Amino acid sequence: MTRKISPIKSLSGEIEIPGDKSLSHRGLILGGIAQGITHLENFLPSKDTLATEACMRLLGVSIEAPTPAARIIHGKGLDGLKEPDNILNAENSGTTLRLLLGLLSGQPFFSVLTGDESLRKRPMKRVVEPLSLMGGKISGRGNASLAPLCVQGGKLNEIKYRIPVASAQVKTALILAALQAEGETILEESAQTRDHTERLLSEMGGKIQFSDRKISVNPSPLKGINLYIPGDFSSAAFFLVAGLCVPHSKITLKRVGLNPTRTAFLKLLQRMGGDIRVISKTISAGNSFFEPEGDLVVSSSSLKAAEIFPEEVPNLIDELPIFAIAASQAEGVSKVTHAEELRVKETDRIRDLCLELRKMGVSIQELPDGFVIEGPSRLKGAEVFSHGDHRLAMAFTIGGLTADKETILNGSEVIDISFPNFFKLLDKLQ
Ligand code: S3P
Repeated sequence: MTRKISPIKSLSGEIEIPGDKSLSHRGLILGGIAQGITHLENFLPSKDTLATEACMRLLGVSIEAPTPAARIIHGKGLDGLKEPDNILNAENSGTTLRLLLGLLSGQPFFSVLTGDESLRKRPMKRVVEPLSLMGGKISGRGNASLAPLCVQGGKLNEIKYRIPVASAQVKTALILAALQAEGETILEESAQTRDHTERLLSEMGGKIQFSDRKISVNPSPLKGINLYIPGDFSSAAFFLVAGLCVPHSKITLKRVGLNPTRTAFLKLLQRMGGDIRVISKTISAGNSFFEPEGDLVVSSSSLKAAEIFPEEVPNLIDELPIFAIAASQAEGVSKVTHAEELRVKETDRIRDLCLELRKMGVSIQELPDGFVIEGPSRLKGAEVFSHGDHRLAMAFTIGGLTADKETILNGSEVIDISFPNFFKLLDKLQ
C-alpha cells in the first residue's frame, strides 16, 4: 500500500496511545497459563499480538474479545494446554516465537513454530541454546537456529545462566521455561532489559525475585488478574518526535507507560533540548499496581545533537529509527554505536534506515553497529520504502511531515504490525 504524506504546519490536541505491545503479548501468554480468568483492558489488537492470540487459541486457551481492546482469557493453568493440531504461526512477531519456544519446551507435547519470511531469517539460537541446557528438545533449520522449529516438550531442569545478548525476549522465554522446571533458575542479564514479565509474574503470584540484572524463578502456579495495559511508550515515541520537530506544535499523549526500563528515549530527547513534560504520573489502575504511566506534553523545540551511551541502547533499541529523524533536525553530529542488534530486527534497520533517509536528504553515515547523522537538514520529499518494517514506516512518515514537499511511502500497511490506528491519530492532531 502507498501513502502520500504532506508536509504540515503544526500539530495540536490530545490523543490516547494504544496499549503496550510487550504487555499485550505477555498478558495473553501468562493469562493463558494462569488459573482463573484474566481481564486485559487497553489490549493492543495489532498484527503481532493477534498472532500470539491465535497461537494461544491453538493451544486450547479460550479467549473472548468483547471489544477490540479488551480480552477475557480463560486460563488453563500450566498443565492444561493441549497439543496444537496445526503449526503455530508467529507471522512477523519475534516476541511470539521466542516466548512460545520457552513455554512449549516444558509442555508434554509436540509443536511446530514458524513465521513470515522476515521472522524465518531472525536468530533463534540465542533462545534455543539455553533452553537446550534446561533439557529442552528443539530441532529445526540451521542446526535449530532458524524457524520453522519443532519442539518436543518435556521435563526441564533449572539452570544458572548469564544471558549474553541484551534481550527481554530471551529472558522471558527462559522465565517461562523456569516456571515449569524442577528447581530454582537463576538468570543474569548482560544489560538490563524491559522487565514487564518480571513485574507481571509477581502480580500473578509467580515465585520470582528480580533486581537490577538478576532474576530468580521457582516453579509456581499463576493466578488470573485484571490488568489495565498502559499506552506503548515505543508508539508514543513517534508522536514525541513529531511534536518536537513540526513547528508551532503542542500535543498531549495520554496514559503512556513509563516503566523505567522503557523510557531511556524520553531522557535522551530531553537531553537534546526537547520540551517534554511528564504530568500526572501514576501507577496503572485496575487490580494491578505494577506499571507506572503518565501523560506527556510535548512542544516544538530546537534540538541539539546527542551521542547515545552504550548502556542506554537496550532500553531505546526500538526507538532508534525515530531517533534518526530527531537527529536529522538537531544541530550538530549525533552518533549511535553498540546497536548491532538493529541488524537482526524485522529488517536490517541500520542498512535500510541509511538507504531511505539518504533519499530524504539526511546526511547519514552507516557504521557496523550504528550510524552517524549530521544535522540539521531540511528534509526532502522523496519516494521511500518501508522494507516491511513497521518502525521504519512510521519514522519515514514523521520525517515526511517536516519535509519540503510530499513524501511517498511504499509498504505502509506494515504499520498494522504494532500500531493499526497510527494514521488516524496523526490526522486527529492536524
Ligand atoms: C520485546 C523485546 C525487544 C524489542 C521488541 C519487543 C519484548 O526485543 O525490540 O520489540 O516484548 O520482549 P529483544 O528482546 O530481541 O531485544
